[in-house]
Amino acid sequence: MIENNAKIYEDLKSILVTREEIAEAVDKLGKQIAQDYQGKELLMVGILKGSVVFFSDLMRAVDLPVKTEFMAVSSYGAATKTSGVVNLVKDLTVDITGMHVLIVEDIVDSGMTLSYLKKYLSTRGAASIKIATLLDKPERRRVDLQADYFCFTIPDEFVVGYGLDYAEKYRNLPDIGVLSPRVYAPEA
Ligand code: IMP
Ligand code: MG
Repeated sequence: MIENNAKIYEDLKSILVTREEIAEAVDKLGKQIAQDYQGKELLMVGILKGSVVFFSDLMRAVDLPVKTEFMAVSSYGAATKTSGVVNLVKDLTVDITGMHVLIVEDIVDSGMTLSYLKKYLSTRGAASIKIATLLDKPERRRVDLQADYFCFTIPDEFVVGYGLDYAEKYRNLPDIGVLSPRVYAPEA
């Protein structure tokens, strides 16, 4: 595990959520999900790539025999603001008819990605579709989208770590931090 004083942390302005705070919140959420889905067929769908770290911790905190799947979408490119256009890059590989689907995402920002995914999956005959996100940035919402489960509400700042990237980097940071503005060129 990377130490807090390591080189990669020099690119951060600050640490917003520590690994200890994340672990505690994920554990609590896992227990809540296990309670809510007791006796149901739960399929956890991780959205690549941002959710992988959260997903791998969360699924191990859920004391139920869950099934797992992954989907991939793209909307960002290397910018720190959404393009607003969501593309499906990788679809499910199983039939979800009758399944209780829990979409696992890293962050709800504008809400465009999850709004698209929820609508897309709603045509597939699932028994239910809910959303679990690690982070929620409500100030930036552009569509009416509410996560059913979330761990942390954060202010309108671009964050990296614990799966979240800037131009594909920093996903491997064990904590969630605010990137130093000198790392990216200011956008017009
Ligand atoms: P939305 O469609 O605007 O809600 O954006 C969702 C996606 O944007 C997330 O899955 C992330 O990949 C990305 N994103 C939004 N905010 C951040 C951030 O602060 N850091 C890193 N990625 C972000
Ligand atoms: Mg993402």
